[in-house]
Amino acid sequence: MTHEGTATAMQSDALLAVRGLVSGYGRVETLHGVDIEVKAGEITAIIGPNGSGKSTLLKALAGLIPTWKGDVTFDGRDIAGISAHRLVGNGICVVPQGRVVFPGLTVEENLKLSAFSVRDSSIVKRRLEDAYELFPMLRERRASLAGSLSGGEQVLLSIAKVPMLQPKMLLIDEPSLGLSPKMMSLVYSKITELAEGGLTVLVVEQNVKKALEIAQTLIVIVLGEVRYIGSPEALQNDVDLGTLFLEGKL
Ligand SMILES: Nc1ncnc2c1ncn2[C@@H]1O[C@H](COP(=O)(O)OP(=O)(O)OP(=O)(O)O)[C@@H](O)[C@H]1O
Ligand SMILES: [Mg+2]
Repeated sequence: MTHEGTATAMQSDALLAVRGLVSGYGRVETLHGVDIEVKAGEITAIIGPNGSGKSTLLKALAGLIPTWKGDVTFDGRDIAGISAHRLVGNGICVVPQGRVVFPGLTVEENLKLSAFSVRDSSIVKRRLEDAYELFPMLRERRASLAGSLSGGEQVLLSIAKVPMLQPKMLLIDEPSLGLSPKMMSLVYSKITELAEGGLTVLVVEQNVKKALEIAQTLIVIVLGEVRYIGSPEALQNDVDLGTLFLEGKL
């Protein structure tokens, strides 16, 4: 196991710290004690083979499945096992794998709904403007049903929750799944733009090349365990893991 971070790094600027996280489905344990940290303002990408537990980790952090054991600290608060709904109030915005918009509602209704917790309508209006500024194509399609958008546009709509909710952190699972290279680049340029504006991002990404390109920190999960956490550069220089990646064995 390669852990670049030392004990000192562990106490530093982590916005999210996870210790010994165990979770699974029914009686089957899928995550076997995961330790990770996510630094504030960074993009951290989780990569690993199919079925290794990437989505399970995100779901456990997002309160979508129970945490069996372990500590999850976000911004100094213990958030292990709290519901997805309550996470919003803590400054975490979750975009799970798959289509996550309400297809029968318009783009604008979807955006307004994502800010359900914001009671002041003038704030919602202002944030809607921010969302449209960041995603001009959503402004053009504001009156269209979300279900009529392309897959990529739907991903952008789900990411537009960020200006609507102004969270500290975004947890997002495979935003690039099924997208054309052009749309994938657009999605990641928006995520990068948000990160440059101070958003902390934890993203699951199948596309290793893309993950290496956009992330400051990479986490490799294999069979429910963290095999690597550190910089993309160090991973590429890691003889064992780096070779496995380059040979397409991971
Ligand atoms: N809802 C579920 N019920 C039972 N087992 C599940 C469920 N979802 C996932 N699993 C199992 O948990 C393990 C980890 O799955 P997970 O979806 O976290 O993998 P992943 O790394 O996200 O894979 P992929 O790259 O295919 O998305 C797998 O063995 C999978 O079959
Ligand atoms: Mg997955």
